[in-house]
Amino acid sequence: MTTIRPFEMSDLFKFNNINLDILTETFNMPFYLSYQSTWPEAFTVAEAPDKSLMGYMLAKAEGSKKLWHGHVSAVTVAPTYRRLGLAKVLMDDLEKYSEDVYNAYFVDLFVRSSNALAISMYEKFGYVKYRRVLGYYTGLEDSEDAWDMRKALRRDVNKE
Ligand code: COA
Repeated sequence: MTTIRPFEMSDLFKFNNINLDILTETFNMPFYLSYQSTWPEAFTVAEAPDKSLMGYMLAKAEGSKKLWHGHVSAVTVAPTYRRLGLAKVLMDDLEKYSEDVYNAYFVDLFVRSSNALAISMYEKFGYVKYRRVLGYYTGLEDSEDAWDMRKALRRDVNKE
């Protein structure tokens, strides 16, 4: 059975099975701490019965007026636990928080333009490509564009 619970700082010592993945964005310690202290309800982890971590959602609320929205900073699932519907559960939870707690207009996320699997998954979940951000992902030698993908929530009555 899978448990979805708030991310704890000690989880940072056990999430290498998830983060050792080229498509998973990894941040510095203060970044995770700021999310945990500011948006604990949007930073959640899926835990297996043996207490190993299966995947997590790192998200927040941001923007103002009609741009007030939930933002996915990272959603990722360990290779051994993929295709079980975990990403769907984590995304559904965030959308519910964004509607019921934040009263946001939409949820958005940035995804590498080469990450076709994730892009098609988000499209299946109802997200649309809103804009292409040139060179958003920077590396030592080259950069990559991002798709800013968005899904309107019920507060956005006219789907603006
Ligand atoms: N091949 C084809 N479709 C796939 C797929 C695959 N390997 N993995 C997921 N999908 C699609 C399917 O439509 C699936 O629905 P279905 O199983 O009913 O057909 C849907 O996505 C949801 O799948 P789910 O089981 O919830 O996804 P997951 O828990 O395996 O996690 C990722 C999906 C993308 C989060 C996971 O592959 C991952 O962590 N990848 C590396 C990190 C990453 O790319 N994160 C997103 C960056 S923005």
